[in-house]
Amino acid sequence: MPAAVHVVDHPLVQHKLTLLRRKTTSTADFRRLLGELSALMAYEVTRDLPLREVTIETPVATTTGHLVDGKKTVFVVILRAGIGILDGMLGVVPGARVGHVGLYRDPQTLRAVEYYFKMPRGMRERDAIVVDPMLATGHSAVAALNRLKETQPRSIRYVCLVSCPEGIAHLHEHHPEVPIYTASIDEGLNDHGYIVPGLGDAGDRFFGTK
Ligand code: URA
Repeated sequence: MPAAVHVVDHPLVQHKLTLLRRKTTSTADFRRLLGELSALMAYEVTRDLPLREVTIETPVATTTGHLVDGKKTVFVVILRAGIGILDGMLGVVPGARVGHVGLYRDPQTLRAVEYYFKMPRGMRERDAIVVDPMLATGHSAVAALNRLKETQPRSIRYVCLVSCPEGIAHLHEHHPEVPIYTASIDEGLNDHGYIVPGLGDAGDRFFGTK
């Protein structure tokens, strides 16, 4: 039984995602919306991070509070489109560390080829949150998780905004224990590996490279 797929159906997420999808949305608005959506997704994906109890002094009394346990969370950005998600997430978790996985999609095979990999130290004590706006074929996600697992993080979660049944199935097949957080499960893939209805090429729309 694979880990859960959490579809974040908060009204604000659905509203902003609809604006993001529109082909008439400008580059500036696309960036802003992606940042806002990422912050909301960060809130959901960190919901069950483990806490530890601490004793603190307020100006009035001694009390018991809770802090996120262990070393700082690491956001693992799948380049290039994952960059679009990072700022919004760091807005919610400003102390997080950031790792990068550079992958490009071979246009013939649609498979992921790695060109860059850099993680912070102490990965065994960190909770890793892998971010990429689109879970399409799932090839990049699987390749990124294969490499990430070599660093043995304490836990792994995967966050995207738009996913499809093919990508989810592929990820589940190779990494069944990794929970997926998404704002939408779309219909499927077209012949070019794009999600339908999707939002087009997230990297091109974020960087204005189309
Ligand atoms: N990558 C994108 O940016 N968009 C898709 O639809 C599929 C992969």
